[in-house]
Amino acid sequence: MSKQFDVVVIGGGPGGYIAAIRAAQLGFNVACVDEWKNEKGGPAPGGTCTNVGCIPSKALLQSSEHFEHAMHHFADHGISTGEVKMDVAKMLARKDTVVKQNNDGILYLFKKNKVTFFHGRGSFVAAKDGVYELKAGDETVQTKHVIVATGSNARALPGAPFDEELILSNDGALRVGAVPKKLGVIGSGVIGLEMGSVWRRLGAEVTVLEALPAFLAAVDESVAKEAAKLFKKQGLKIELGVKISEVKPGKGGVSVAYTDAKGAEQKLDVDKLIVSIGRVPNTIGLNVEAVGLQLDERGAIVVDADCKTNLPNVWAVGDVVRGPMLAHKAEEEGVAVAERIAGQHGHVNFNTIPWVIYTSPEIAWVGRTEQQLKADGVAYKAGQFPFLANGRARALGDTQGFVKFLADAKTDEILGVHIIGPFASELISEAVVAMEFKASAEDIARICHAHPSLSEATKEAALAIDKRTLNF
Ligand code: FAD
Ligand code: NAI
Repeated sequence: MSKQFDVVVIGGGPGGYIAAIRAAQLGFNVACVDEWKNEKGGPAPGGTCTNVGCIPSKALLQSSEHFEHAMHHFADHGISTGEVKMDVAKMLARKDTVVKQNNDGILYLFKKNKVTFFHGRGSFVAAKDGVYELKAGDETVQTKHVIVATGSNARALPGAPFDEELILSNDGALRVGAVPKKLGVIGSGVIGLEMGSVWRRLGAEVTVLEALPAFLAAVDESVAKEAAKLFKKQGLKIELGVKISEVKPGKGGVSVAYTDAKGAEQKLDVDKLIVSIGRVPNTIGLNVEAVGLQLDERGAIVVDADCKTNLPNVWAVGDVVRGPMLAHKAEEEGVAVAERIAGQHGHVNFNTIPWVIYTSPEIAWVGRTEQQLKADGVAYKAGQFPFLANGRARALGDTQGFVKFLADAKTDEILGVHIIGPFASELISEAVVAMEFKASAEDIARICHAHPSLSEATKEAALAIDKRTLNF
């Protein structure tokens, strides 16, 4: 007889494993099925985020940043070193250890919360009398509720499939065994900039080719402008407005033919090419046809604002549905769905989802950009404070960038906060909390911030809304 559950989650990434844990906390009998394999063929829950996304990329960003500091910044502190060398194999092994710690952590959390884990593919078999029959690896299970959290895959350029040797997706980009002399990156989005930064810091000559005429089009224009200036200074070559015509892998390298913004034919020869032009929702092998689960023209599972699909008691969360492809968005949806199944009022506020790009300096924002406010016809005030005038940033030796506040001209409610600078990823949380509580800029300006801290730049940017900064 097949095993019975209240809730079965298909996919063990941040959307799925968090949904499974929350549902178990709420008293349901829960299973999670995930097919990711580690190099020994064993289970590796955590999805894209843990295995080939957020976690390993941040491990490599940290290693390469240490290297860059040792090469170029230690001397400022009076520290002299011998010859600084990078052992790429060791850096990659450390990254793998960090990934494994996270995989093991999730398996431990499943045990702790009594979530049954199946290693293998989950797929729909049939639906009858309010019960869904699913395959979970080699087993057949039955459940009332299904949460689909099957994530996304890298999008390839037409005619240039990933071979992960020369043409790399995010997966291959995290496993390059030696620093390439020349690295090409197609797409100057989040992955392109983060992975381009890693290999540039380690010595690669990096050229990024971007189709759009504007750099970081989704980011506040003043932040994008500052970022373009700083990345150029670091040696990252970014060409905008290009049209890729051909990608040809050859002996030990890749040749990219493209038309530049002026319409001239160009060629770029590189040792490795990272293609980071977005991701596509993944429903491969889910057998949606068996139950009639509806997909849209992009292949995403169609859901309403509450993550309900067209089928009763079938829910979908994370990268496989609409909305930003971010781990914390997937997690929030996972929690909310588990709570809705329990009859509670799970809630995800799409207006306060923070974004972070882990370049150096980091870029982080929440809420609307200045260009969006203009387009929406909203009357707003802007206030900005540079890290150059912040004592902690000077002590750190990291004074690039600024914090920018956008507030409603009449009510002073914070509408957006945009940061480029040290630890922007951490600083943005204060802005998220403030916006979640519908705070005004003056609320932040009146709160005591520790000195010396980078967060004083946030307070000063809030003060700048009323043109009353104290340190600038
Ligand atoms: P996934 O993490 O993709 O997990 C889906 C899981 O389902 C996988 O384990 C997959 O094997 C499994 N699965 C799929 N189909 C089946 C099936 N039929 N049966 C069983 N299992 C199945 N986001 C951030 O917020 N911050 C970051 O810093 C960040 N960095 C990133 C860096 C890179 C290089 C990449 C590629 C992504 C990054 N992201 C980041 C995005 C983030 O990884 C995703 O938004 C997040 O992983 C989505 O979670 P998910 O649970 O929806 O899907
Ligand atoms: P992206 O959407 O961030 O950027 C893709 C870029 O490629 C865009 O600028 C786009 O204009 C460009 N592009 C598209 N087609 C092109 C073509 N044919 N030629 C040249 N340029 C082209 O996608 P990316 O970088 O692949 O990342 C996917 C997603 O993963 C991100 O959107 C984000 O949701 C997530 N992610 C999040 C991170 C974070 O939170 N720090 C880190 C990395 C990824």
